[in-house]
Amino acid sequence: MTSFPKSFLWGGATAANQYEGGAFEGGKGLSVCDVLTGGSMTRRRQLTWKNPVTGETGSTDLRPRQPLVLPENAIPAVLEGEYYPSHQAVDFYHHYKEDIALAAEMGFKAFRMSINWARIFPEGDEETPNEEGLKFYDEVFAELRKYHIEPLVTMSHYEIPLTLCTRYGGWANRKLIGFFENYARVLFTRYSNTVKYWLTFNEIDNVVGYPFICAGVPEYSDQAIAQAAHNMFVASARVVKLKNEINPDMMVGQMLAYMPVYGYSCNPKDQLLAMEKEREALFFSDVQVGGYYPNYKLKEYDRKGIFLETEKDDFYLIRNYPCEFIGFSCYKSMTVSSEKPEVRNLKNPYLKESQWGWAIDPDCLRLTLNTLYDRYHKPLWIVENGLGAEDKLENGTVNDDYRIAYLQDSVRSISEAINLDGVEVMGLTVWGWIDIVSAGTGEMKKRYGLVYVDLDDEGHGTLKRYRKKSFDWYKKVIATNGESL
Ligand code: BG6
Repeated sequence: MTSFPKSFLWGGATAANQYEGGAFEGGKGLSVCDVLTGGSMTRRRQLTWKNPVTGETGSTDLRPRQPLVLPENAIPAVLEGEYYPSHQAVDFYHHYKEDIALAAEMGFKAFRMSINWARIFPEGDEETPNEEGLKFYDEVFAELRKYHIEPLVTMSHYEIPLTLCTRYGGWANRKLIGFFENYARVLFTRYSNTVKYWLTFNEIDNVVGYPFICAGVPEYSDQAIAQAAHNMFVASARVVKLKNEINPDMMVGQMLAYMPVYGYSCNPKDQLLAMEKEREALFFSDVQVGGYYPNYKLKEYDRKGIFLETEKDDFYLIRNYPCEFIGFSCYKSMTVSSEKPEVRNLKNPYLKESQWGWAIDPDCLRLTLNTLYDRYHKPLWIVENGLGAEDKLENGTVNDDYRIAYLQDSVRSISEAINLDGVEVMGLTVWGWIDIVSAGTGEMKKRYGLVYVDLDDEGHGTLKRYRKKSFDWYKKVIATNGESL
C-alpha cells in the first residue's frame, strides 16, 4: 500500500526552452537553445553558426563531453531555412490558460516551469528588465493561483541569453555572477508574493557534459568547466542570501541530475568505479547544498592542474548560504565495469530499456532519495521523472499503459523511501506532463506527456491538446493522494 503526507506536492514539470515558444515575441532575446536545430534524423542536436565578417554559415554536432568545434571567428547564430524547435516549441506562450486548466483538471498542486532569462534580460547584461516579459509571467502566475497551484520556478533551465555566451564566454566568466544576481533580484522582488519555491540552475552537474546549453560555455576544457561551476556555486549562494533579505519565506533549491550507478559485478574495482561516477554528480550537491568543496574534487583538480580563480568571500558564501532543499531529476540508473572503463553505461541485464536506450529501473528513486537524504538531511523534491516514448494518437487519445506502468513504479518507489526509510519528500513533478520538445535530441516524438500535443519533429501540426490514458490515471493518483495506483 502506498501512502503520502497530506502536504505532498503532486504535479508536472516543463522548461521554457522546450515548452514556451514565442521566441521573437514580447521583446525576448535569443537564448542558447534558440540556435539548436532538431534531431529527427540523427537524434542529435546541431548548433548553427555564422561568421559575421565573411557571412559564412554552417552547423556543428553538439555531442556530450566532446569539444564544440566552431570555425575561427564564427559565433552561434540563427540561420534562415533551418528548423529550430525552441522557437515555437508547443506554444505555451499562447496556450497557457488552456494548459493550466488541464493541469488543474488533473488536480495539480504544483507546476514546475522555468522563466526564460532572455525574456527578462534579452541580452543578459542590461541593468533594467524587459517589462513585457515580466508581465507575461505575472499572467501565468495569476492563472496558477486561480487554481491554487503552487509554481516551482527554475531560474535558468538551458535558457542563458545567447549574448552572455558570445560576448562573455558564458559562466566561465565571473561577470555572470553579477548579471544573475541582478536577474534574481528582479524575480524575487516582482514575484515575492506569488512564487515560494525556486530552483537556481537546472541540472547544474550537466555543465560537465553539456557546457554550452547548461552554462553558455563554448569552450569545452576542464579548466573552463571547473571555473564555470565555481562561478555558478557563488551565484547560487548569493541568490540564497538575497532571497533571505527579500523574503525569507521563499525557498531556494538546488537542481541536480542524478542517477544511481551500479558496478557491473561484485568485483570491488567495479564498485570503486561506480562510486567515482556517482561523485561526478554528488560533487555539485556537496558544494551547493553541503557548503564545502570535497577533498576528492580538490585532489582531482590538483592532478589535472586546474586552478580556480576565486575571491575572498567565495568560500564564506558557499558555506553560509547553501540551498535549502534538493530538487533532482532521475529517469534511469547506470551500470559501469572496471573491465570496460571507457564505456559510460553498460546494458544492465536485470532491466528493460526505453526506446531511447534508457534503463527502466523501478528502484532508482528510492535509491536516489536515500543517497541524497543520508548525505545532506535536507528535504527532497523529485522535480523530473517520466518515460519518453513514441505515442500513437487514436480516436482522440493515446493508450499509454507503458507510461502508466513506469510512473506506478516511480510512485511506489517514492512511497517506500518515505514510509520505510523516513526520507522527507516534498513532491513529485512528472517531467513533460504535456508533450514538449526533447532537450537531448530536439525531437517531438520522444514524448513524456500525460497530454498529447499535435506537433511533429519538423514543426508541423495543429498544436491541439488531447488527454492520454495516463491523464485519467494521474488524476486518480492525485485525488487519492497516492493511494490508488
Ligand atoms: C533533463 C532535463 O535532463 O531531462 C530536461 O532537465 C529534459 O530538460 C529531460 O527534457 C529529459 O531529457 P530528454 O532528452 O529526453 O528531453
